[in-house]
Amino acid sequence: MVDSDNNAPAAVALSERVYWIGAFDPDLRSFDIILKTANGTSYNAYLVRGSEGVAIIDTVKEGFAGDFFARLETVADYAEIKVIVLNHLEPDHTGALPELMRRAPQAQLFISQKAQTMLKALLKRDKLNFTPVLTGDKVSLGDRSLEFLHTPYLHWPDTQCTYVPEEKTLFSGDVFGCHFCDTRLFNDEAGDFRFSFEYYYAHIMRPFKDYVIRALELIEPLQLDLIAPTHGPILRDRPKRYVRRYREMSQPSLSTDKQAKARTLLIFYISSYGNTRRMAEAIYAGVMSVAGVRVSLYDLEGGEVSPFVDLIEDADGLLFGTPTINGDAVKPVWDLLSSLTVVNLKNKLGGVFGSYGWSGEAVRLVEDRLRGLKLRVPIQGLRVKLIPTEEELEQCHRFGRELAQELLGLREARVIDFAELTSS
Ligand SMILES: Cc1cc2nc3c(=O)[nH]c(=O)nc-3n(C[C@H](O)[C@H](O)[C@H](O)COP(=O)(O)O)c2cc1C
Repeated sequence: MVDSDNNAPAAVALSERVYWIGAFDPDLRSFDIILKTANGTSYNAYLVRGSEGVAIIDTVKEGFAGDFFARLETVADYAEIKVIVLNHLEPDHTGALPELMRRAPQAQLFISQKAQTMLKALLKRDKLNFTPVLTGDKVSLGDRSLEFLHTPYLHWPDTQCTYVPEEKTLFSGDVFGCHFCDTRLFNDEAGDFRFSFEYYYAHIMRPFKDYVIRALELIEPLQLDLIAPTHGPILRDRPKRYVRRYREMSQPSLSTDKQAKARTLLIFYISSYGNTRRMAEAIYAGVMSVAGVRVSLYDLEGGEVSPFVDLIEDADGLLFGTPTINGDAVKPVWDLLSSLTVVNLKNKLGGVFGSYGWSGEAVRLVEDRLRGLKLRVPIQGLRVKLIPTEEELEQCHRFGRELAQELLGLREARVIDFAELTSS
């Protein structure tokens, strides 16, 4: 249904005035390195025709520009294009932009305020004719109009959505999108893409849940007959269901649990001969001695990474215990840490401990990684040489207590001696 009998790409009408002019990429198997794409993806671009001009909303990845221009030409002349909207500047939606600007030099670009420097970097030009916009800004095409919604970080800093009130249509950029290539194009005709929708959210939107919620505050009040994202099926059958699903997926999972009111601290450890484990247990007891902190202890040898990631997202503090093996922390610890890019860790409390034999690099290496992930690590990591003594276990207990107090904001600032700094 998408292309005519002779297979020439043609635009698809979403209404009398709105057309899909995107491209299909069925052979793609991974996207942005981090996402699998079991049946490829689509780069959705759109055309809106008003009584006083045409708007193009987003373009396609560079290699697919031929299909995009061919589809565009079936419904408009380049001279009619008054407006080009870029909902964000990622290359898969701006690949055809330079050529589109060459073919329609009269068109005015509309980008979000945050996209200005990025646009210059993308096009490598200083003199550019563009209008930066924020929520509430509008542009008229005569009997159709475009209203902009500032929805930053979904998933690029410069992201915005564009609403056409006369069509009750939201051009949502990557929000509500997914990698699912289906020429049937609409959600009520395409194959089952539920998995792709949720998978896309989990890998692309999840780190920005707070921003998702802010965007939903703008999107939920809109009258919506259609949501037109930049990837995957166009949502015309009960589009608000997808908005509600975003709301559900962005809520903290423990929000109804009364225990969620306590501060939560998770201790993950791994241990070959039980030395780091003894430290973990003493630290655990130390945390438990402070009321108001809900502490949990997990041996990484007995757990899968993904449920731990869910726990970590909701926790206030994270401790990692690792021995030093061959000059490094051990793989299960790195595997967990490398899976945390999908959640927001900023300002969570972090701490590290571990047993070692002679060089003991692991604790410092993991501390550096935690800081790189934007955790705060206010208490220096604790290392014990081989088997912890009773005294060292006491030290572990104090370490746990101090971290719990830190989590509750009860820890007094310590004056650090200069000699202490130079000796470490
Ligand atoms: C294969 C192997 C390699 C090790 N490499 C190091 C090392 O590079 N540096 C170090 O300080 N300790 C090293 N150790 C010593 C361990 O860190 C030490 O035995 C520690 O107490 C083990 O703690 P665990 O019982 O919690 O696993 C190594 C131990 C093994 C078995």
